Amino acid sequence: MKERLQAIRNACFEKLEQAQSLDVLNEIRVEFLGKKGALTEVLKSMKDVAPEERPKVGALVNDARTAIENRLEEVKQALERKLSELRMAEETIDVTLPAKRMTEGHRHVNNIALAEVERFFVGMGYEIVDGPEVEEDYYNFEALNIPANHPAKDEQDTFYINGKILLRTQTSSVQARIMEKGKLPLRILSPGRVYRADEVDATHSPCFHQVEGLVVDDNITFADLKGTLAEFAKEMFGAETKVKFRPHHFPFTEPSAEMDVSCFKCGGKGCRFCKGSGWIEILGCGMVHPRVLTMSGIDPEKYTGFAFGVGLERIALLKYEIDDLRLLYENDLRFLKQF
Ligand code: DAH
Repeated sequence: MKERLQAIRNACFEKLEQAQSLDVLNEIRVEFLGKKGALTEVLKSMKDVAPEERPKVGALVNDARTAIENRLEEVKQALERKLSELRMAEETIDVTLPAKRMTEGHRHVNNIALAEVERFFVGMGYEIVDGPEVEEDYYNFEALNIPANHPAKDEQDTFYINGKILLRTQTSSVQARIMEKGKLPLRILSPGRVYRADEVDATHSPCFHQVEGLVVDDNITFADLKGTLAEFAKEMFGAETKVKFRPHHFPFTEPSAEMDVSCFKCGGKGCRFCKGSGWIEILGCGMVHPRVLTMSGIDPEKYTGFAFGVGLERIALLKYEIDDLRLLYENDLRFLKQF
């Protein structure tokens, strides 16, 4: 009996020596101490032992059990320690490794220019409003006094979705949308994308951005327009900037003008930048045409207004001395990072 118990103990210890996981340890526990385990088998055979021998044998079995239990616990603790050391080694962070460089993004040139335009007009009490890019023919043309046979309506210039719906060709389309709401006085600025069926080149793109301005109130005169836009020019191009208004024609304004600014490169003497003239054209503007007011339900006898439209890319190209519009859309980081 003694030898048998010793053999069980040795077999168990041998197995414990090899065990590499807690699962295996558990299997060993069941194999030797479980209900059908080796030691239990020995206890079952006690009935064959002479009664006077039984207490001795019983003690031997208990010794073996305690020894196995102790060894199991020792091995278990050692194994747990080893596994946790392995995990720690895997999770180690090498704090001496060089950090990954984070590149910080920034605003696009167009947006930098837009933020400047918006800051100026918001400071003057204008409200920024939005209008749809997919627009009704009515708001893009009709309500702006551009009659059905106007050359600007030619399909060459306008992307039509169907006979009545188009991609707006100008942010002027927000004018009637805002005016017909009937809330006066109005001081609004509306930036956004516009679309024209143009070939891409250094100064043209089928999609570009405009900023529309509209003021309607009583006693608004051309002097208000001039004063506002002259201040705007100074803000954008420097305090020395002079402005010049040239008569022009837009169907939705009367009178209409284009505004030039004195060349901020040469101060007006004439250089390559302003093509020798000393002036650079910046925007279109005028007094809102009485018919445009009437169509949107505003009485032109009571109210007057002025409007203007600026090409945002034009401002960005001038301000940052970029000579090709395409650079703004190519998303070449080497270019964009310069601003
Ligand atoms: N919508 C015009 C264009 O796309 C620009 C413009 C001119 C807007 C005069 C205006 C304006 O509001 O009064 O060329």
